Amino acid sequence: MRPFPLPFFVLVTALLTVGCGSNSAPDAAADSAGVSEVQARALYIRKCSLCHGEDGRLMASKSPDLSTSVLSMEERVALITYGKGTMPGQKDILNRAEIKAVAQYIERFRE
Ligand code: HEC
Repeated sequence: MRPFPLPFFVLVTALLTVGCGSNSAPDAAADSAGVSEVQARALYIRKCSLCHGEDGRLMASKSPDLSTSVLSMEERVALITYGKGTMPGQKDILNRAEIKAVAQYIERFRE
C-alpha cells in the first residue's frame, strides 16, 4: 500500500483545478475524480488481472511484473489507453477517469 491513497490524489487534483479558476466541468473526465478506489480495484481485477494477476506479479501472456515497473503516471495512462503488443488498449472500453484510476491503482504493486 502506497502512502498516497486515491482520495489524496483526488483532493490535490480538485484543489489544483479550483486554484486555476477553471470552470472544471470539461476537465472532470481528465482526472480520476468520481472513480473510487473500490471501483478502480474492480476494474483492475476485471480487465487486467487475467494477465498481470491480483498483485501485478502473475506475468501471464508474457506480461511484465508490475511491481518492478518504472513507468510514470503519464506513460501508464498512455499504455493502458492504447495498449502495446498483446496488451489490449482500453480506450473504447474505459473512460479517461477510469483509465487514470487504474493507472493510479497499480502503483500499490511497486516495492
Ligand atoms: C492480454 C494480457 C494483458 C492484459 C489483459 C493487460 N495487460 Fe498490461 N501488459 C501485457 C503485456 C504483454 C505487456 C508488455 C507490453 C510490451 O511492452 O510489449 C503489458 C504491459 C503493461 C504495463 C507496462 C509495464 C512496464 O513497466 O513495462 C502496464 C503498466 C500494464 N501492462 C498495465 C495493465 C493494466 C492496468 C491492464 C488493465 C487495464 C492491463 N495491463 C491489461 C499484457 C496484458
